[in-house]
Amino acid sequence: MPPTDTTPEAPTPKDSGDDAVPKGEGVSTEKGDAAKGEGAAPLPRGEAPGIRFEKVIKRFGRNVVLRELDFTVAPGERVTLIGPSGSGKTTILRLLMTLEKLDEGLIWIGDETLWHMERGGKRVPANQKHLHEMRKQVGMVFQQFNLFPNMNVLRNLTEGPVRVLGVSKDEAVERARDLLDLVGLGDKINSHPSQLSGGQQQRVAIARALAMQPRVLLLDEVTSALDPELVVGVQDLLRDIARQSDLTLLCVTHEMTFAKDISDRVLMFDGGQIVEEGPPDQIFGEPSEQRTRDFLQAVLAS
Ligand SMILES: Nc1ncnc2c1ncn2[C@@H]1O[C@H](COP(=O)(O)OP(=O)(O)OP(=O)(O)O)[C@@H](O)[C@H]1O
Ligand SMILES: [Mg+2]
Repeated sequence: MPPTDTTPEAPTPKDSGDDAVPKGEGVSTEKGDAAKGEGAAPLPRGEAPGIRFEKVIKRFGRNVVLRELDFTVAPGERVTLIGPSGSGKTTILRLLMTLEKLDEGLIWIGDETLWHMERGGKRVPANQKHLHEMRKQVGMVFQQFNLFPNMNVLRNLTEGPVRVLGVSKDEAVERARDLLDLVGLGDKINSHPSQLSGGQQQRVAIARALAMQPRVLLLDEVTSALDPELVVGVQDLLRDIARQSDLTLLCVTHEMTFAKDISDRVLMFDGGQIVEEGPPDQIFGEPSEQRTRDFLQAVLAS
């Protein structure tokens, strides 16, 4: 059965609004700058919403992974999250994708809460419609690509837009072609994922995430499953995308050069909380916390 969303594991839809938080001047759903004259240009443009975690708690059984976590990503800001294995980085991204359920606290995307909505002046748990609408703003690229294996590249890119966004088939195909050109895979449009290299699959996964016209893009160690010689190409692509779009970006990576290139700010995360944060040069060059120094040393030694 074909999936009904951008990612193989995906939930659902919005409803009402809430209070105010970091946001751009209006969350835009425009499809691009249309610079090419026909159809939508591949990269999302326009104001992106910010993100805020407010006293977020996430548990898996008795394992408290996020402990009243607070952090903010400004509209259009590019933030890299670093921290030890098992510290909860992927969990943060999965909460934003609504692939994990929030236990306590609030997650804001722009001026709306992701997991809550307002009803009769009260904040109540979000219904499926609210979740689905909020989630449309967020795209994610996974470490393991997660392409739909039974669909060719074209359908991987058109399935979500047609089924979830209600885009016409023709428009979805045109946009898919533009995106495949952007990621350098225009000639693979009819291939199946199994016929592609890891680097090519990851490029398709990036194009698929962008096909949903997200305003927030989440990248979870997107090059760590690639052969070393393929890493740079995918990183270069993402760097270009980050520069040419106005997306709000939250990226998990241990690749320091990439993190320096792609991010405005780095958050060092451990024990369910942010240990320190700052510009990449400072965090990687002169970290102020011992925990950050230990972590970076371990990464360099690995
Ligand atoms: N579905 C789940 N069920 C139970 N425990 C989980 C689940 N997902 C994650 N965890 C636990 O939550 C903690 C954080 O996991 P998470 O995957 O977020 O870490 P991470 O920082 O992304 O690690 P890595 O750098 O290895 O990818 C770990 O202890 C993990 O075992
Ligand atoms: Mg992870």
